[in-house]
Amino acid sequence: MTGPESLSADTAEMLLRRAREARANAYAPYSRFPVGAALLAESGEVFTGCNVENASYGLSNCAERVAIGKAVSEGVRSFRAVAVVGPQDDLYCAPCGACRQVLYEFGPDMLVVTPPADPADGPYRVAPMRDFLPGAFDERRLTPETPRG
Ligand code: THU
Repeated sequence: MTGPESLSADTAEMLLRRAREARANAYAPYSRFPVGAALLAESGEVFTGCNVENASYGLSNCAERVAIGKAVSEGVRSFRAVAVVGPQDDLYCAPCGACRQVLYEFGPDMLVVTPPADPADGPYRVAPMRDFLPGAFDERRLTPETPRG
């Protein structure tokens, strides 16, 4: 990868397709808002996720964090991009604040691919993770004095 926008159209479209496929498995009976995510690892492997809700609403997991959990638990921690798709293929779905924090941990430079916020912007939108979480809390905020547990 040479720059922040260097994701081929084929790759972006492939990730959006994988995210839509993962969305088909969403367990979202409470919100009725299915979400799918597809994470592209530096290795080329793709890890997908969907939201998994619970009758105890606060225990619900978002699609992006399910995908991250799958990848990290398989020993994969470096990512080039992530696609996120909400219920409608052609509508922008903003990653939630919790997912921004969790995605940022594993790739401030990761590219986020979504349907466009404005259809005039083209078939999809690509922006670096950094743009989603300015002033992020990250490892640099943990001073040497901070107890690490
Ligand atoms: N949701 C995600 O899966 N990812 C996000 O980034 C936004 C929200 C899910 C959580 C919940 O299951 C449903 O969308 C409605 O909030």
